[in-house]
Amino acid sequence: MLKVKILSKASRPAKPELAVLFSFENQPLGQLAYADSAVEEAAHLDQFKSLKDKTLYLPAPQKAKRVLLVGLGKVAELDLESLRRASSSAARKARDLKLKNIVFVLPNDQPKGMSETDMAKAIAEGIWLGLYRYTSYKSKPKDPKDETKDPLSFTLLCSNDKQTLAAKKAVAEAEIICDAVYLVRDLVNCPPSAKPPEVMASHAMKIKKRGKRLSLKVLRKSRMEALHMGGVLGVARGSVKPPVFVHLHYKPLHAKKTVALVGKGVTFDSGGLSIKTGSHMLDMKCDMAGAATVLGITLAASRLNLPLEIHAIAPFVENMPSGSSFKVDDVLTFMNGKTAEIKNTDAEGRLILADALVYASRLKTDLILDFATLTGAAVVSLGMNITALMGDDKTIEKLKTAGEQCGEMMWPLPLPKIYRAYIDSKIADIKNTGNSGEAGTITAGLFLKEFVEGSQPWVHFDIAGPAFLKREEGVHPSGATGTPVRSVIEFLKTF
Ligand code: BES
Ligand code: ZN
Ligand code: ZN
Repeated sequence: MLKVKILSKASRPAKPELAVLFSFENQPLGQLAYADSAVEEAAHLDQFKSLKDKTLYLPAPQKAKRVLLVGLGKVAELDLESLRRASSSAARKARDLKLKNIVFVLPNDQPKGMSETDMAKAIAEGIWLGLYRYTSYKSKPKDPKDETKDPLSFTLLCSNDKQTLAAKKAVAEAEIICDAVYLVRDLVNCPPSAKPPEVMASHAMKIKKRGKRLSLKVLRKSRMEALHMGGVLGVARGSVKPPVFVHLHYKPLHAKKTVALVGKGVTFDSGGLSIKTGSHMLDMKCDMAGAATVLGITLAASRLNLPLEIHAIAPFVENMPSGSSFKVDDVLTFMNGKTAEIKNTDAEGRLILADALVYASRLKTDLILDFATLTGAAVVSLGMNITALMGDDKTIEKLKTAGEQCGEMMWPLPLPKIYRAYIDSKIADIKNTGNSGEAGTITAGLFLKEFVEGSQPWVHFDIAGPAFLKREEGVHPSGATGTPVRSVIEFLKTF
């Protein structure tokens, strides 16, 4: 990740290539660094007026080589997500201009209830999240000399000691969190043939080494057989790549509570014998986003020393059609002895999560959260930018609030008892699909609920929409987003 430095006004660089100045409607720039009378005048021009989402580029100011004025609108109406987005687009603009030394001058005012730390964190997040690019498969050689001689560098310029202190704390935290988001985005953007289950296990090992107080268990096929994980083994049967079951454990010295995080790790979802047709198979490399999410959250939590024990559980399989595939009308038996009749091999996520949820339940944690790109129906109901949440109402309320704080929208769906009949099977305990076209996200949630043992609260995140975007949106480039890593960290900080 690129570096974001913090400097105080006294040690500000003279004439930086670009100074980014945030400005508020009807408010003078005043003593803001790099502001001169012409910049001040420009901030109030009729065409700009420092309105929200407007920017004004000034190529020849006095105190910097260039100034980019970024309008934030009325100070009382500013929220953190607007600030993140403004910061993202300013950072992208700087990169487009091929500039290397960019100074972001922190705003000199903030709305009630928004701390200077929150503000600096949002600006740093905006820079990092917005500038992410997946370049691993671009053949154009990067000139290493170019990179080291003059790397892209961002500085947050603070106007007083209090702000400097706040910014240092904020940026240190944002760096750890954005690094986890980058990790998730890299894993999800990776082509499917380059990340079969075994490779995902080696990524988990690298993550273990990067974090603090982390340990890793990787269960292979024979161990899964001994544990009767018929869901994971069933889905894996069609692929030449064997499944792996990853259990990453973060154990701080003084843990107040324990949490299990379960993630769907389908490294490619072709649909299996119920094969996906046409464009439906496109982007199905993203079907391990849930698993990547739980690994990312756990890495960040460990690097932030959160006083909370975390079990990240991620079954990895590839869902492929072949002569050895599991079939429709087959019956699979899960780790807890429950059985499911397969009506569609493309509803495979719930099958691997069933075993993983039983495994997680038996760890007897205070909470279980699961993450999965589970249903196309979630995209139909909530679109690409809202995560569907199901399960414990109180926890959902807190998660939703954390989501609002982080600019990751989430919305609850019910798990009504009357829809449970939709997954009744004639020959097994349940079947793996409901009625076609009827509440597909909810029936998937009801299926998962069957495998949550014990009385601890549980919340299921269906991230089929927000995990992977067809087009850029806010702080997310197109492709993998790393949603909802940031919100869950925010939630865990006060859990
Ligand atoms: N991985 C897909 C869900 C998905 C769809 C993720 C779009 C991301 C974007 C899942 O395994 C799936 O295929 N679900 C089926 C279930 C159906 C057969 C009951 C679906 O949603 O169509
Ligand atoms: Zn599927
Ligand atoms: Zn899937």
